[in-house]
Amino acid sequence: MLDRLNHVAIAVPDLNAAVALYAGTLGAIVSEPMPLAEHGVTVVFIELPNTKIELLEPLGDASPIAGFLEKHPSGGIHHICYEVADILQARDKLRADGMRVLGDGEPRTGAHGKPVLFLHPKDFQGTLIELEQV
Ligand code: CO
Repeated sequence: MLDRLNHVAIAVPDLNAAVALYAGTLGAIVSEPMPLAEHGVTVVFIELPNTKIELLEPLGDASPIAGFLEKHPSGGIHHICYEVADILQARDKLRADGMRVLGDGEPRTGAHGKPVLFLHPKDFQGTLIELEQV
């Protein structure tokens, strides 16, 4: 089911500071900030030779990462994203095996304009998993 690692997402309390760290100190290629109102986050992508890092800052009052940042005020790894060839087939297989898909289980459009789903961290060793159909 799993294909490449698409990205690792890090929740940050201050996106400008995180961008300065990655672009300046670490010399990475960093995208322009992209506000995603539907997801309640502003996203920046860092391009690495073999994958991407996604920096997430809360956007709006009901951001899904607000609670995470309350528990981890200096930020932290929020989720990892695996690529799948067929997200509906993957969802149905996971559900058949008793795994919990978050939300209503219908894929939403993620930061790359591709369909994504999230899987319950309690079913995956405490790690929030994002699946993206590429
Ligand atoms: Co993501």
